[in-house]
Parts: sequence; C-alpha cells; structure tokens
Amino acid sequence: MGLIVKPGKALKGEILMPGDKSISHRSIMCAALAEGDSVIRGFLKGEDCLATLNAFSKMGVNIDQHDKEIVVHGVGLQGLKKPDSDIYLGNSGTSMRLMSGLLCGQSFSSTLKGDVSLSTRPMKRIVTPLTTMGANISSSNGGCPPLEINPSEKLKAFSYELPIASAQVKSCLMFAGLYADGPVVIKEKIQTRDHTELMFKKFGIHVSIEESKGLKEIHVLPPKSMDAANINIPGDFSSAAFFVLAALITPGSDLTLMNIGINKTRIALLEVLKEMGADIKLSNVSNEYEPCADISIRASELKGITLNPKLVPNLIDELPVLFIAASLAEGQTIIRGAEELREKESDRLEAMSNSLKLLGVKFKIYDDGIDIQGLNQEVNTSNSDMPFEASHINSFGDHRIAMTSAIACTRANDKSYIEDTKNVTTSFPNFLEICEEVGLDIK
Ligand code: S3P
Repeated sequence: MGLIVKPGKALKGEILMPGDKSISHRSIMCAALAEGDSVIRGFLKGEDCLATLNAFSKMGVNIDQHDKEIVVHGVGLQGLKKPDSDIYLGNSGTSMRLMSGLLCGQSFSSTLKGDVSLSTRPMKRIVTPLTTMGANISSSNGGCPPLEINPSEKLKAFSYELPIASAQVKSCLMFAGLYADGPVVIKEKIQTRDHTELMFKKFGIHVSIEESKGLKEIHVLPPKSMDAANINIPGDFSSAAFFVLAALITPGSDLTLMNIGINKTRIALLEVLKEMGADIKLSNVSNEYEPCADISIRASELKGITLNPKLVPNLIDELPVLFIAASLAEGQTIIRGAEELREKESDRLEAMSNSLKLLGVKFKIYDDGIDIQGLNQEVNTSNSDMPFEASHINSFGDHRIAMTSAIACTRANDKSYIEDTKNVTTSFPNFLEICEEVGLDIK
C-alpha cells in the first residue's frame, strides 16, 4: 500500500484532528480498572488504541462503541479475567509498555505480542525496573517482545530514577504502582508527557508531584479502588503537527486546527517553530483536565536553529516534522540528544535521512541527531519553483515517516510516491480525508 502525492496549493479552513493517541490508551486502561461506567468522548479509533481496547475486551471488560463516545464498564482493580490466548498489540509500543505494568499485578499469566516492528523494540527498559519491584516478567530475543508475565508476590513499594526520558517507562511503573504494597516514586530529570499523572488524578488516585535535587518526583499511592470518570479527549497534537507543517511551508496558507491538546509536555514543537519565525497563534484556550486550544498557522519564512536537547522528550514524535521545516529554513539547524528516535516504530533518524536525501536536502547524520542545511524557501515561492525533488520514498512501515514524507512531497516539483503506508491507520485513520478537506492532493 502506498500514497501518490501531487504538488499542493495553499491550505485554508478550520479542521478537527482525531483524538489524542496517548490519552486514548490511558483512558481505556484507567476506565477498565475503575468501579462503574466511564464515558469517553473523542477516543481515537486508530489501530493502536483499538489494540488496547481489544486487549481489555479479551480480559472480560465490556466496552460499548458508539459513534461519538465509548462506554467502558469498569471491572475494578481485581476484576480482569485471564485472556484465553496471547494478547496481540500490533504496532503499539504504548499498549505493550503501559499494559505490562498493570498486568504484572494480576493473579493470572499473560503473553504480549506485536507485529514485526514492535517485536524489535526494546523492552528491557521496563522489564528491569518491574523485576526490581518483584514482578515476574521476561522478554525474548535480546530484550524484545513477546513478553511473558506470570503472577508474583505483591509488587513492592519502589523508588526509581528513569535512566532515559520515557513517558512510556514512567507510565508502565505508575500502572504497576496501582498494585504495589506501598508508594511508588518515579524520578525524572527531564519532564516527559504527564498524561498518566493527570488521568490518574481524574480517576481518583492520589498522585503528588514534588521537586527534589533538580528531579521531578511522581509519587503514586496504591488505591483500594479507582473511581469511574468521564473523559473528553482533545485532538492529537502529534497528528496536528503534520498540518502545522503543511500550512507553514505552503505559500498563502492560513489554517486553523481546532480543539487540539496543548499540554505543555507535548507542544515544544510550537515553541521551536516560533523561534524559527513561524506565524502560529493559539486561541480559545480552555483547561478541562487537559488543556486545549485552536492553533492558527500562516505560511512563514523560517530560520535554522540549534535545538535545546532538553526539549527533545517534549517533541520526540514531532522531530520528523521539524526536520522538514528545517529543510526549508534559511541556514543550518542542529539537532542532538535525539538518540531515542532510533527506537521508535522505525529508526527514524535513518528513515528521515533516506527521505531528506531523496527530496534533495543536504544534511549530516549523527548517532543522536542531525545537521540540516536549509534550502531557504521564500514564503512567496510560486508553485513553478517548488523546493523539493519529486521522490519515491520508503516509509519503512512507520506511520509518522509516511505522513511527514507525504506532506514534504506536496512541496515537490512533480508527483511523488510514498511506499508502505498502511500503518498510517495506527494513529491517523482519516489522514487522507483531512488532506482532501484542506485541499491537498494525496491519494
Ligand atoms: C508515548 C510516549 C513517547 C512517544 C509515544 C507515545 C506515550 O514514547 O514517542 O509515541 O503515550 O507515553 P517514549 O516515552 O518511550 O519516548
């Protein structure tokens, strides 16, 4: 499966994005473990989140799917049932890492499997601390899935400093903490996305955040039970990022993305793009339990920057988008501290260097980053003077590489092809419909 991309014209209008992927996963997990019914609006019906949903159905949780909302009939912390076969989580690292934490607290065994990409992703980062807590979990093939989880004595109270900035590892341990015999404290040097902290609070779990010796400490007190909660999931900032990019690099664009999650641990891309000269404005800011806003973007001339490596965890999924923005900027952009890009659905440093080469961009790749020499696109460039070379790009089965490359190719001088794009449906099932809505020709 692939995409055919034709050169695009100015993007206009107001559009909605699908629900946030990270929040959708967590909403199912918490609602399943709560007492009573939770109504979730804006749930992302992408394959990754459906993998989480199906896993809980398999463990005896009844979930009604309606057009605009889903209703999860929670079974309580001790109410999950042993699945009758292995749990298959497709491409979804978030499902596997977060669910492992809570499955280590169950009185039944489970096996978690994934597709070819997930089967090569590192799991030692969760297996090691879970084992220290007393969990009985093992990985295969040098620390990769499948994961085998067996019942253990009660998990122990535990304090752990994250060796890598990973919200998935932090959240895994927070879910395990629900089943511990005392408080679990997770310390992070650089704050990663805090959706689990916010969601736990919403479901009545005692979570406190403290600062000590330059570290952020997340304290979770194991609850006796969890309250049900109704959740409104905002539009996914990481999906919005593709259209922020498209509007920014396409002369004449003026686009508004409505009701997007603007949790500050997620939107470093906006700060960085603004520093590069982007015309981006937020309006209608609201703060339910996760902050939201409308994001308006106009085509802008950009300047290269040196990225502060501390921002990397807060734009990790948007780095491919930043690479393309940097490719059209004036001057050089320097990105370091991004070695985690190599551990995603593909090695995103390699995958993006392949895309950039084909698009005609000059760059130098490092173990943990890249230097990109911008092509200096002026904002009033006419369509007869497109900056990128028409290309035939492999996405390596990675949804974010596929969508980033497709948006880049709307600024190529002829028709382009993106290969192996089936996994776009893992995070953004209506990507092509939205492209059509804003006037992009991607089929
Ligand atoms: C996620 C955390 C990030 C991100 C992933 C989703 C989450 O991974 O890349 O797409 O929902 O917690 P890491 O925290 O492992 O970097």
